[in-house]
Amino acid sequence: MAYFTLEPKRRREDFYDMEDELNDFVSSLSKFRFIVVRGLRRYGKTSLILTGLNAADVKYLFLDCRLLRSATSSFDSFLSIIEAEVSKKSWARRLIRNIDYFEVGGVIKFKFRRPDVLLGIFENLGDAVVVFDEAQELRNLKFKLDGFLAYALDHLDIRIVVSGSEVGLLHKFLRFEDPEAPLYGRPHKTIELRPLMREAALDFLRRGFEQEGVDVSDDLLDEAVKNFNGVIGWLTYFGYNYARGLRSMDPIIDAAINMVLAEVKHFLETRGLGGSRYSEALKTISAMERCSWSEVKRRLEAKFGRIPDATLANILRNLMDYGLIVKVDDEYTIADPILRRAIKRI
Ligand SMILES: Nc1ncnc2c1ncn2[C@@H]1O[C@H](COP(=O)(O)OP(=O)(O)OP(=O)(O)O)[C@@H](O)[C@H]1O
Ligand SMILES: [Mg+2]
Repeated sequence: MAYFTLEPKRRREDFYDMEDELNDFVSSLSKFRFIVVRGLRRYGKTSLILTGLNAADVKYLFLDCRLLRSATSSFDSFLSIIEAEVSKKSWARRLIRNIDYFEVGGVIKFKFRRPDVLLGIFENLGDAVVVFDEAQELRNLKFKLDGFLAYALDHLDIRIVVSGSEVGLLHKFLRFEDPEAPLYGRPHKTIELRPLMREAALDFLRRGFEQEGVDVSDDLLDEAVKNFNGVIGWLTYFGYNYARGLRSMDPIIDAAINMVLAEVKHFLETRGLGGSRYSEALKTISAMERCSWSEVKRRLEAKFGRIPDATLANILRNLMDYGLIVKVDDEYTIADPILRRAIKRI
């Protein structure tokens, strides 16, 4: 048993609690052909999916769509992700034998790099599960994958799992509620991950340190939960570093903040000239427990002059879509305490 490892969990014994969500996921595998796992960054989506698939003992391909971010979002790079995964799994290799391919250093390369080849691959997979982890990254593919998924649901046997941390973007990719969209109205099961409650977060840390044979005080655990809330990815990151010798809280928090800061900066860079408005909105919201629409507007206008409501709505909508802010009772807030502190350093 080891809770404090940084990779996504795969085995039930390393997977802390979240029993309801895990059981829900496993039982949905036999009831639904389409499962959506949602939750902000580091809430444990990938761990839930991998542990659930292993517990259910089903065959699966795991496609990490984040790899598309750095590549040009072409069909070719998407196919490369599939090739790498198929290459790793001997059962999948066997099933695709009838599709033309050659091998380069143990990695399969399909001879024809066309959508019908993708169809052929999925056709051969039977009722295996195909996971599209961080599926919102597929929205920029020129090849319309949502139409393809709809076709697969209608005519093939594969089961589909998608996850996303940029929940608004995932929603826009899937468009279940848009009558014009290929996936409109498809039966699916949504599983939503949430942070651990305070008691569970403390229990997770206590047990994790016990596994590592490291003595810790209740005060330290309290302090950790104060800083990281119930975000299981952060609690794991803290436990991992603390148990491995960095026996002090501040440098660990600092490293976590810098990780998130890099992510936020990347987001702001992709906003181009509008970046400064986004960063001001983030700073305004992070400075308060909860922040109203009019407060964001007031601060932005004080700095940049008049901002039309539609523009502000767009800024806030994008921040929500990317999972940077959340709306609670008509007010905006930053859900992740480390993100909140990172924003102060922008
Ligand atoms: N139930 C769990 N028990 C123990 N550790 C967990 C659990 N869930 C997640 N973790 C740990 O938390 C970290 C984040 O988990 P994971 O990568 O599964 O989350 P995620 O939501 O997919 O994150 P990201 O948004 O970065 O993709 C990892 O270090 C993982 O090992
Ligand atoms: Mg993940």
